[in-house]
Amino acid sequence: MTSYEIIGSIALFNKKISKKEAQELIRKNKHIKTVAYKSDIHKGKYRLKKVIIILGDKNKITIHKENKVQLKVDIEKTYFSPRTSSERLRILNQIKPREDILVLFSGIGVLPIEIAKNTRAKSIIGIELNPTAHKLAQENLILNKTNNVTLYRGDVRRIVPKLKLKFDRILMPLPKSAEDFLDLTKIVIKKNTIIHFYTFAQEKEFKDLSKKLKSHFKKFKILKIVKCGNYAPFTYRICIDFKVL
Ligand SMILES: C[S@@+](CC[C@H](N)C(=O)[O-])C[C@H]1O[C@@H](n2cnc3c(N)ncnc32)[C@H](O)[C@@H]1O
Repeated sequence: MTSYEIIGSIALFNKKISKKEAQELIRKNKHIKTVAYKSDIHKGKYRLKKVIIILGDKNKITIHKENKVQLKVDIEKTYFSPRTSSERLRILNQIKPREDILVLFSGIGVLPIEIAKNTRAKSIIGIELNPTAHKLAQENLILNKTNNVTLYRGDVRRIVPKLKLKFDRILMPLPKSAEDFLDLTKIVIKKNTIIHFYTFAQEKEFKDLSKKLKSHFKKFKILKIVKCGNYAPFTYRICIDFKVL
């Protein structure tokens, strides 16, 4: 069967399947109420894709549970991928008590909320451009009763300079263009800030990845390069964990 991901009560396929196959899936999995497919790839500055419902409830909004949080997701008007939940867990496991954390490109709030609920971080700030994602993120704060997350709606280029804060850890989960925002982090880093920088790369490019960082940071140490998904044949979504020295 074509591959699919489950987001809340929605089974979301990578390509169209028949009504009969959709019926079979709903019959076998009582928690699936809607079967849909993505009719294109993630596009535009909000990283969205068109979703077409094949069978079941005509609903593109659902509540998804992962890493001990509940998230209201609009599968068409916001970016969210359950496939990266283990990568989120990898980040959560590194966070130390009392850290101040900045999540750029925070979407529906998945990372800020999972950090708040699963770690002893002191404060978390999230910034997101897409108004629908920001609205859902605010609802998700209430749904999860968090009290140490602050969310801003807007372009990181406009918001970050206004923060006037320094962070222990910065997350940049926008692999398509996070590189264009590396310069921005320089105003909110301090010695030993850890940055989780996402990008797309082929394996043969891994050895040159430090060049991307060298043009922005005088001294840094790459802690780890992690493959955290496939983007295209031979091209991975990767995370470079590095420390500013
Ligand atoms: C790949 S999604 C990641 C969302 C979420 N952090 C997650 O992991 O599911 C990237 C997000 O960055 C947002 N974004 C893109 N450019 C931005 C900018 N200049 N300022 C703030 N947010 C931006 C998009 O709207 C999108 O929600």
